[in-house]
Amino acid sequence: MKAVVLNDINKDVEIQTCINPDILNSGEAIVKLLYAALNHRDVWIQKGKYASIKLPVILGSDGCGEVVEINDISCSHFLSKKVIINPGMNWGPNATFQSKEFSILGMPTDGTFAEFVKVQTKYLYEKPEHLTDLEAAAIPLAGVTAYRALFTQGNCSNGQRILVTGIGGGVALWAMQLAIANGNDVWVTSGDDEKIEQAIALGAKGGVNYNNEKWWEELQKQNLFFDIIIESACGKNFEKLIDLCNPAAKIVLYGGTLGDIEKLIPAKIFWKQISIIGSTMGSDIDFKNMMQFINDKKVKPFIKHVYNLNDAQKAMDLMNNGNQFGKIILKIEE
Ligand SMILES: NC(=O)c1ccc[n+]([C@@H]2O[C@H](COP(=O)([O-])OP(=O)(O)OC[C@H]3O[C@@H](n4cnc5c(N)ncnc54)[C@H](OP(=O)(O)O)[C@@H]3O)[C@@H](O)[C@H]2O)c1
Repeated sequence: MKAVVLNDINKDVEIQTCINPDILNSGEAIVKLLYAALNHRDVWIQKGKYASIKLPVILGSDGCGEVVEINDISCSHFLSKKVIINPGMNWGPNATFQSKEFSILGMPTDGTFAEFVKVQTKYLYEKPEHLTDLEAAAIPLAGVTAYRALFTQGNCSNGQRILVTGIGGGVALWAMQLAIANGNDVWVTSGDDEKIEQAIALGAKGGVNYNNEKWWEELQKQNLFFDIIIESACGKNFEKLIDLCNPAAKIVLYGGTLGDIEKLIPAKIFWKQISIIGSTMGSDIDFKNMMQFINDKKVKPFIKHVYNLNDAQKAMDLMNNGNQFGKIILKIEE
């Protein structure tokens, strides 16, 4: 089969012919992939900035495809069905945090940037009917990360005002779309005015460019303070988020793209009773609840960037440069 393989750190990915996954243990299935989606994780792995990297590997955590083989009588209804895959494996028994065995599809196990992938049947979910194969591929990793950050960790209820930072990001755009579908008023930040306009076109109430000097004052001047802030950048701007919090607000952070938080003033945090909460991907329950939410509310991810599998490195470069808006998709079949 054709697959996108990372053979070495800081090297381009290569399109290679690999052996098809074949022998199925009980409880396993083979999915013929139609579309896969990138996550920043794939770029971190390529740059060697990820824990316990094992190479070579077929990258990719997200995908939508058709089940072509299955060794699990209780899941035989999936055969020939279109599915997406929960890439968060072995979360474990505690919904509040993942087990030590937790791993993510697409390193160390071979992932979805390939014609076929072998997965355990318990991670299969039927593709939502209201979505195309391409749209469904955008769901798994970013969708569940956004869902957990917003609802499980953020305890978001409608009526609360939400700020999502760096709206160009795949998870950020999901967080915005889920919150809007939940009836929340959502504001965004971005380094690109055009992305803010795109977010507004999708239902955001407004946004500010974090490259503007004193960008946070633009929100404060409009008396805009937030109940939940969904954040993944950190770095020097993080302390400004505290100034944008309503009393008892939550800042849910799932990434640190810009590195360490430079400064925090304790009094501002305890006086306003602010919670800063970490969030990572999602439990099996989060994934199930996310799928229910997407199906109930008919949420449709916005997709702008689609590449052929052969152009996987171009897709990786786009994500690395940060010029994307939302998910970047790979079309598996030519
Ligand atoms: N903990 C988890 O489970 C988990 C899951 C998924 C992702 N992550 C992490 O979360 C981060 C985002 O992941 P992703 O896949 O969504 O990546 P992505 O699509 O590459 O998004 C990164 C985004 O960061 C934004 N950004 C850059 N500088 C910023 C700044 N100064 N302030 C605010 N935002 C800024 C950019 O938004 P603009 O283009 O709008 O400027 C950019 O689009 C990555 O670090 C990733 O490793 C963690």
